[in-house]
Amino acid sequence: MEAEVRTDFKPATILVIGGSAGIGLGFVRHYLKDQSVERIFTASRDPVASEELCLLKATHRDKLFPLALDVTKEHDFEKMVSEIRVVTSEIDFVIYTTGVLQEGELQPEKSLRQIKAENLIRSFQVNAVGAVLAAKYLQSFLSHNRMSTFAAISAKVGSIEDNRIGGWYGYRASKAALNMFLKTIAIEFGRSCKNTTVLALHPGTTDTRLSKPFQKNVPPGKLFPVEKTVQLLDGIIKRSRIQESGSFYSWDGTKLPW
Ligand SMILES: NC(=O)c1ccc[n+]([C@@H]2O[C@H](COP(=O)([O-])OP(=O)(O)OC[C@H]3O[C@@H](n4cnc5c(N)ncnc54)[C@H](OP(=O)(O)O)[C@@H]3O)[C@@H](O)[C@H]2O)c1
Repeated sequence: MEAEVRTDFKPATILVIGGSAGIGLGFVRHYLKDQSVERIFTASRDPVASEELCLLKATHRDKLFPLALDVTKEHDFEKMVSEIRVVTSEIDFVIYTTGVLQEGELQPEKSLRQIKAENLIRSFQVNAVGAVLAAKYLQSFLSHNRMSTFAAISAKVGSIEDNRIGGWYGYRASKAALNMFLKTIAIEFGRSCKNTTVLALHPGTTDTRLSKPFQKNVPPGKLFPVEKTVQLLDGIIKRSRIQESGSFYSWDGTKLPW
């Protein structure tokens, strides 16, 4: 990857899908501090339920626009884009940070015995299908003349080549599906959204609600605070040129195998 920050990518309008918590909320906080960013839309199931988001909205009324979206419901995407269109028809940076590893009955599977079809479907819906729906409904917002980015938070465990210890069937397979969606979106955007760089990003183990139950085995220094992850990923996003569209990067800027 080129080492220098791009000068032609200056996002003024941003959409963080999954901006109510964890890494997504970290991106919201990061860009609220950036004076060159004019507006930030966030999307999550119940934005009012996120105390942090409500507090940020109270102090950034004209810059922050929390919207409701359940990524498992296609109709919600239609509603979300119609709400965004009232404000703008152009977005410079979309980041899909939505993801699920465990939720109620859904637990990462240790063996085939624990496989349940409905849990696999849920993982695929939240981790992969939502991202391709986002690309479908947002492509017209990205097809302007300035440089733009469509990125999604994937996970290294979604790398088929890197899979050495098995387990976590639903999470791994849904992230592998997300990666394939992103690569395919990058190819189509090469024709329809020529200025949009599409990226899959591995954040490293980050201290969030999602990783909480699995943090005890993380070696010291390997559990990143959200701010560090966002800083690192933002650096990759700002250094990635259009030629890198369709790449899968780790937090340290190395390219990951599919
Ligand atoms: N944390 C890590 O160590 C780690 C490592 C590798 C990859 N990742 C990936 O990084 C991404 C962010 O994870 P995180 O750690 O920040 O998780 P998190 O703290 O649990 O946040 C997940 C976000 O996804 C949203 N979300 C979940 N289900 C949704 C749905 N059906 N519709 C709309 N939004 C939904 C949540 O919003 P609401 O609940 O408010 O709707 C929340 O904003 C995920 O893709 C995850 O797989 C994380």
